[in-house]
Amino acid sequence: MTLFHSKKKSTAGTGDFNRLPRHIAIIMDGNGRWAQRRGLPRTAGHAAGAEAFRTIATYCRDIGLPYLTVYAFSTENWSRPPEEVAAIMRLLEKYLAEAIEKMERENMRLRILGDLTPLAPEFRDLVTRTNRISETLHDFQANICLNYGGRDEILKAASVFASECLEGKRSPSSLTPELFSSYLTTAGLPDPDLIIRPSGEIRVSNFLLWQSAYAEYYFTDTLWPDFGKEELNRAIADFQGRSRRFGGI
Ligand code: FPP
Repeated sequence: MTLFHSKKKSTAGTGDFNRLPRHIAIIMDGNGRWAQRRGLPRTAGHAAGAEAFRTIATYCRDIGLPYLTVYAFSTENWSRPPEEVAAIMRLLEKYLAEAIEKMERENMRLRILGDLTPLAPEFRDLVTRTNRISETLHDFQANICLNYGGRDEILKAASVFASECLEGKRSPSSLTPELFSSYLTTAGLPDPDLIIRPSGEIRVSNFLLWQSAYAEYYFTDTLWPDFGKEELNRAIADFQGRSRRFGGI
Protein backbone atom coordinates (compact mmCIF):
# COMPACT_ATOMS: atom_id res chain seq x y z
CA MET A 1 0.00 0.00 0.00
CA THR A 2 1.30 3.45 -0.78
CA LEU A 3 1.15 6.51 1.39
CA PHE A 4 -0.36 8.26 -1.60
CA HIS A 5 -2.40 6.88 -4.46
CA SER A 6 -0.27 8.36 -7.24
CA LYS A 7 2.36 10.99 -7.86
CA LYS A 8 0.68 12.35 -11.00
CA LYS A 9 -1.13 15.67 -11.17
CA SER A 10 -4.74 14.80 -10.54
CA THR A 11 -7.20 15.02 -13.42
CA ALA A 12 -10.17 15.55 -11.10
CA GLY A 13 -9.35 19.21 -10.77
CA THR A 14 -11.28 21.81 -12.65
CA GLY A 15 -10.87 24.39 -9.93
CA ASP A 16 -8.79 27.52 -9.67
CA PHE A 17 -5.67 26.14 -8.01
CA ASN A 18 -3.88 29.48 -8.10
CA ARG A 19 -5.99 30.82 -5.24
CA LEU A 20 -6.00 27.90 -2.88
CA PRO A 21 -6.55 28.16 0.83
CA ARG A 22 -3.23 27.68 2.61
CA HIS A 23 -4.62 25.35 5.21
CA ILE A 24 -7.67 23.08 5.06
CA ALA A 25 -8.87 21.22 8.15
CA ILE A 26 -11.39 18.37 8.07
CA ILE A 27 -13.57 16.68 10.69
CA MET A 28 -13.67 13.17 9.23
CA ASP A 29 -17.26 12.36 10.23
CA GLY A 30 -19.76 9.75 9.08
CA ASN A 31 -17.68 6.58 9.03
CA GLY A 32 -20.10 4.72 11.32
CA ARG A 33 -23.19 5.62 9.26
CA TRP A 34 -21.39 4.74 6.03
CA ALA A 35 -20.72 1.24 7.40
CA GLN A 36 -24.19 0.85 8.91
CA ARG A 37 -25.84 1.64 5.56
CA ARG A 38 -23.89 -1.22 4.04
CA GLY A 39 -24.58 -3.68 6.85
CA LEU A 40 -20.89 -3.57 7.82
CA PRO A 41 -19.27 -3.19 11.24
CA ARG A 42 -18.37 0.40 12.21
CA THR A 43 -14.70 -0.51 11.99
CA ALA A 44 -15.13 -1.05 8.23
CA GLY A 45 -16.30 2.56 8.05
CA HIS A 46 -13.13 3.73 9.77
CA ALA A 47 -11.00 1.67 7.37
CA ALA A 48 -12.84 3.31 4.45
CA GLY A 49 -12.30 6.67 6.19
CA ALA A 50 -8.55 6.03 6.32
CA GLU A 51 -8.65 5.41 2.54
CA ALA A 52 -10.53 8.68 2.02
CA PHE A 53 -7.80 10.43 4.00
CA ARG A 54 -5.19 8.88 1.72
CA THR A 55 -7.07 10.11 -1.38
CA ILE A 56 -7.57 13.63 -0.05
CA ALA A 57 -4.02 14.01 1.30
CA THR A 58 -2.64 12.88 -2.08
CA TYR A 59 -4.88 15.30 -3.89
CA CYS A 60 -3.98 18.23 -1.62
CA ARG A 61 -0.30 17.57 -2.22
CA ASP A 62 -0.83 17.28 -5.98
CA ILE A 63 -2.74 20.55 -6.34
CA GLY A 64 -0.17 22.41 -4.25
CA LEU A 65 -2.10 22.99 -1.04
CA PRO A 66 0.48 23.45 1.72
CA TYR A 67 -1.34 22.20 4.86
CA LEU A 68 -4.08 19.66 5.60
CA THR A 69 -5.20 18.85 9.14
CA VAL A 70 -7.65 16.06 9.97
CA TYR A 71 -9.46 15.17 13.19
CA ALA A 72 -8.91 11.44 13.65
CA PHE A 73 -9.57 10.93 17.35
CA SER A 74 -10.80 13.40 19.94
CA THR A 75 -10.22 13.57 23.68
CA GLU A 76 -13.91 12.57 23.97
CA ASN A 77 -13.69 9.56 21.62
CA TRP A 78 -12.31 7.36 24.44
CA SER A 79 -15.94 6.93 25.53
CA ARG A 80 -16.59 4.73 22.46
CA PRO A 81 -16.64 0.92 22.85
CA PRO A 82 -13.09 -0.34 23.53
CA GLU A 83 -13.11 -2.50 20.35
CA GLU A 84 -13.85 0.56 18.22
CA VAL A 85 -11.15 2.65 19.94
CA ALA A 86 -8.67 -0.20 19.45
CA ALA A 87 -9.62 -0.51 15.75
CA ILE A 88 -9.07 3.22 15.12
CA MET A 89 -5.71 3.09 16.94
CA ARG A 90 -4.68 0.05 14.88
CA LEU A 91 -5.56 1.88 11.65
CA LEU A 92 -3.53 4.91 12.67
CA GLU A 93 -0.58 2.82 13.80
CA LYS A 94 -0.62 0.83 10.57
CA TYR A 95 -0.79 4.00 8.53
CA LEU A 96 2.17 5.54 10.38
CA ALA A 97 4.22 2.36 10.19
CA GLU A 98 3.81 2.44 6.39
CA ALA A 99 4.23 6.20 6.14
CA ILE A 100 7.51 6.34 7.99
CA GLU A 101 9.18 4.38 5.18
CA LYS A 102 7.76 6.53 2.42
CA MET A 103 7.31 10.12 3.56
CA GLU A 104 10.61 11.28 2.19
CA ARG A 105 10.15 9.60 -1.20
CA GLU A 106 6.52 10.71 -1.54
CA ASN A 107 7.17 14.24 -0.42
CA MET A 108 4.87 14.33 2.55
CA ARG A 109 5.43 15.67 6.02
CA LEU A 110 3.22 14.04 8.63
CA ARG A 111 2.71 15.50 12.07
CA ILE A 112 0.62 13.96 14.80
CA LEU A 113 -1.02 16.59 17.02
CA GLY A 114 -2.57 15.95 20.41
CA ASP A 115 -1.81 14.54 23.84
CA LEU A 116 0.08 11.33 23.21
CA THR A 117 0.54 10.29 26.85
CA PRO A 118 -2.19 7.60 26.89
CA LEU A 119 -0.79 5.85 23.79
CA ALA A 120 1.12 2.56 24.04
CA PRO A 121 4.92 3.17 24.18
CA GLU A 122 5.54 1.58 20.74
CA PHE A 123 2.86 3.77 19.16
CA ARG A 124 4.29 6.86 20.87
CA ASP A 125 7.73 5.94 19.59
CA LEU A 126 6.34 5.64 16.04
CA VAL A 127 4.75 9.09 16.37
CA THR A 128 7.98 10.61 17.69
CA ARG A 129 9.96 9.10 14.79
CA THR A 130 7.37 10.30 12.24
CA ASN A 131 7.41 13.84 13.66
CA ARG A 132 11.22 13.86 13.70
CA ILE A 133 11.50 12.81 10.02
CA SER A 134 8.94 15.50 9.13
CA GLU A 135 11.18 18.17 10.61
CA THR A 136 13.76 17.38 7.93
CA LEU A 137 11.27 17.69 5.02
CA HIS A 138 9.89 20.85 3.46
CA ASP A 139 6.86 20.30 1.30
CA PHE A 140 3.21 19.42 1.80
CA GLN A 141 2.28 18.76 5.43
CA ALA A 142 -0.57 16.60 6.70
CA ASN A 143 -1.43 16.84 10.38
CA ILE A 144 -3.42 14.11 12.08
CA CYS A 145 -5.12 15.16 15.32
CA LEU A 146 -5.05 12.24 17.72
CA ASN A 147 -6.37 12.43 21.28
CA TYR A 148 -6.91 16.07 20.46
CA GLY A 149 -9.42 18.48 21.97
CA GLY A 150 -9.52 22.24 21.51
CA ARG A 151 -10.38 22.97 25.16
CA ASP A 152 -7.74 20.55 26.43
CA GLU A 153 -5.15 22.22 24.20
CA ILE A 154 -6.08 25.73 25.40
CA LEU A 155 -6.06 24.69 29.06
CA LYS A 156 -2.64 23.06 28.74
CA ALA A 157 -1.23 26.12 26.96
CA ALA A 158 -2.65 28.45 29.63
CA SER A 159 -1.22 26.26 32.37
CA VAL A 160 2.29 26.22 30.86
CA PHE A 161 2.20 29.98 30.33
CA ALA A 162 1.04 30.54 33.93
CA SER A 163 3.85 28.30 35.24
CA GLU A 164 6.39 30.26 33.22
CA CYS A 165 5.03 33.50 34.69
CA LEU A 166 5.41 32.09 38.21
CA GLU A 167 8.98 31.09 37.41
CA GLY A 168 9.66 34.63 36.21
CA LYS A 169 10.36 33.56 32.59
CA ARG A 170 7.33 35.45 31.25
CA SER A 171 5.14 38.28 32.39
CA PRO A 172 1.31 38.20 32.05
CA SER A 173 1.36 41.51 30.18
CA SER A 174 3.56 40.00 27.43
CA LEU A 175 0.75 37.70 26.31
CA THR A 176 -0.42 38.32 22.73
CA PRO A 177 -2.46 36.07 20.39
CA GLU A 178 0.77 35.20 18.55
CA LEU A 179 2.59 34.26 21.76
CA PHE A 180 -0.38 32.21 22.99
CA SER A 181 -0.49 30.36 19.63
CA SER A 182 3.11 29.29 20.20
CA TYR A 183 2.01 27.30 23.28
CA LEU A 184 -0.55 25.28 21.31
CA THR A 185 -0.01 21.88 19.75
CA THR A 186 -0.36 23.60 16.34
CA ALA A 187 2.56 25.98 17.03
CA GLY A 188 4.19 27.01 13.77
CA LEU A 189 1.17 26.16 11.58
CA PRO A 190 -0.91 28.86 9.93
CA ASP A 191 -4.52 28.98 11.17
CA PRO A 192 -6.93 26.98 8.99
CA ASP A 193 -8.60 29.01 6.25
CA LEU A 194 -11.27 26.43 5.54
CA ILE A 195 -12.78 23.83 7.88
CA ILE A 196 -14.83 21.06 6.29
CA ARG A 197 -17.32 18.85 8.11
CA PRO A 198 -18.94 16.09 6.11
CA SER A 199 -21.88 13.86 7.18
CA GLY A 200 -24.54 16.53 7.70
CA GLU A 201 -23.56 17.45 11.26
CA ILE A 202 -23.30 21.20 11.75
CA ARG A 203 -21.12 21.68 14.79
CA VAL A 204 -17.50 22.27 15.72
CA SER A 205 -16.99 19.40 18.21
CA ASN A 206 -14.01 20.88 20.04
CA PHE A 207 -11.86 21.07 16.88
CA LEU A 208 -9.24 23.84 16.55
CA LEU A 209 -11.22 26.20 18.78
CA TRP A 210 -8.52 28.87 19.04
CA GLN A 211 -7.21 28.47 15.49
CA SER A 212 -10.65 28.67 13.82
CA ALA A 213 -11.32 32.30 14.86
CA TYR A 214 -11.49 33.44 11.20
CA ALA A 215 -11.89 30.13 9.41
CA GLU A 216 -14.59 29.64 6.77
CA TYR A 217 -16.75 26.54 7.28
CA TYR A 218 -18.05 24.14 4.66
CA PHE A 219 -20.68 21.55 5.59
CA THR A 220 -21.86 18.74 3.34
CA ASP A 221 -24.13 15.71 3.74
CA THR A 222 -21.59 13.44 2.05
CA LEU A 223 -20.23 10.89 4.51
CA TRP A 224 -16.46 11.01 4.99
CA PRO A 225 -15.65 7.67 3.27
CA ASP A 226 -17.48 8.98 0.16
CA PHE A 227 -15.73 12.37 0.27
CA GLY A 228 -13.52 12.54 -2.82
CA LYS A 229 -11.61 14.99 -5.00
CA GLU A 230 -14.75 16.44 -6.64
CA GLU A 231 -16.27 17.24 -3.25
CA LEU A 232 -13.01 18.89 -2.18
CA ASN A 233 -13.06 20.95 -5.40
CA ARG A 234 -16.61 22.07 -4.53
CA ALA A 235 -15.51 23.08 -1.03
CA ILE A 236 -12.55 25.03 -2.43
CA ALA A 237 -14.71 26.75 -5.07
CA ASP A 238 -17.22 27.69 -2.37
CA PHE A 239 -14.39 29.09 -0.23
CA GLN A 240 -13.07 31.10 -3.18
CA GLY A 241 -16.48 32.74 -3.57
CA ARG A 242 -16.54 33.99 0.02
CA SER A 243 -15.59 37.49 1.08
CA ARG A 244 -13.24 37.25 4.06
CA ARG A 245 -13.15 40.46 6.06
CA PHE A 246 -11.40 39.43 9.29
CA GLY A 247 -13.50 41.92 11.23
CA GLY A 248 -13.00 44.72 8.68
CA ILE A 249 -15.50 45.88 6.06
C1 FPP B 1 -16.00 9.98 13.08
O1 FPP B 1 -17.02 9.25 12.42
C2 FPP B 1 -14.73 9.31 12.86
C3 FPP B 1 -13.84 8.96 13.84
C4 FPP B 1 -14.06 9.23 15.27
C5 FPP B 1 -12.59 8.23 13.51
C6 FPP B 1 -11.87 8.74 12.29
C7 FPP B 1 -10.71 7.88 12.04
C8 FPP B 1 -10.29 7.47 10.83
C9 FPP B 1 -10.92 7.90 9.55
C10 FPP B 1 -9.12 6.58 10.72
C11 FPP B 1 -7.92 7.47 10.71
C12 FPP B 1 -6.88 6.97 9.87
C13 FPP B 1 -5.98 7.75 9.22
C14 FPP B 1 -4.98 7.07 8.43
C15 FPP B 1 -5.97 9.23 9.25
P1 FPP B 1 -18.12 8.48 13.28
O2 FPP B 1 -17.60 7.13 13.65
O3 FPP B 1 -18.51 9.31 14.48
O4 FPP B 1 -19.31 8.37 12.28
P2 FPP B 1 -20.86 8.36 12.64
O5 FPP B 1 -21.19 9.74 13.16
O6 FPP B 1 -21.50 8.07 11.32
O7 FPP B 1 -21.08 7.27 13.65
